Amino acid sequence: MTVQSIDRVIDTDDLVQNEQAGNVERNAVAEVTFRAHELLPLDPYTDNDRTGRIVLYEGYDVAGGGTVHMDGYADQRRSTLPKSENIYEVEHLLTTDVRAKQKGHHGAVFWFTGLSGAGKSTLAMAVEKLLFEKGYHTYVLDGDNVRHGLNADLGFSPKDRAENIRRIGEVAALMTDAGLIVISSFISPYREDRDRARQAVPEHFHEIYVSADLATCEGRDPKGLYKKARAGKIEDFTGIGSPYEVPENPEMVVDTQKNDLATCVMQVTSYIESQVVMKEKDATKSEKTLLS
Ligand code: ADX
Repeated sequence: MTVQSIDRVIDTDDLVQNEQAGNVERNAVAEVTFRAHELLPLDPYTDNDRTGRIVLYEGYDVAGGGTVHMDGYADQRRSTLPKSENIYEVEHLLTTDVRAKQKGHHGAVFWFTGLSGAGKSTLAMAVEKLLFEKGYHTYVLDGDNVRHGLNADLGFSPKDRAENIRRIGEVAALMTDAGLIVISSFISPYREDRDRARQAVPEHFHEIYVSADLATCEGRDPKGLYKKARAGKIEDFTGIGSPYEVPENPEMVVDTQKNDLATCVMQVTSYIESQVVMKEKDATKSEKTLLS
């Protein structure tokens, strides 16, 4: 495991909490978020006070002990295996390449992630319009919109967010197969969920981190939601009562804090155009398939 963040160090004399501490001294008490290299079986301490504890080793030395808390994190086990048994996949007669040839470009997913207020939706809609005007076939999947229909049954608990992103990952994969350039605009705060969406379209998935820090997003507060969250009216608001995990290796970072909208739109649009170009060999391949 590695330390993802030191969330707070607690002074055991006066219980004062320091959220800015850069390290944890020997014998100190702290809340730390760890990232494991693979899935670990864990129980939260509140569910089982015997198995909800850990001992940390560094090499052969005990480095610390603690209790396990998973607040803000969903069960990370795969939940995507089909429930039914007697189902058989049917093959399409049209290949992905044939569809791409008809459209003049590849299908692909451009997955925007970032805090609420970072500018994801504004950027997504502007990029979509520009690409459409240039003759590309595109569609934006947007969190607020999808939550009015397909995902109207989901809230903002870690489990519901995981399901929100799982469904959108699958829908985006279908649209990509149909040959569309999909721009998805979801906070998608958990790396695990975004990685799962990537697995649905491994060859044509591009993670785009729409970056603006919490203070900037809170300053913009376009829907007044940060204000409500600070007033305690939204419990699990991302960045305040619920975590946001910054992408580790996104294909692209767009900084909406430093750059104006027009600059960001140009940056993203030219990146998308460069990634959906059909290669010579694809064109030949699809012609062959059509003839056969
Ligand atoms: S996600 O976390 O599951 O990816 P999604 O992108 O679908 O979130 O929806 C985020 C939008 O829902 C925000 O832009 C905001 O308008 C609204 N919203 C309502 N409640 C919350 C909340 N608790 N946390 C974050 N966004 C919320």
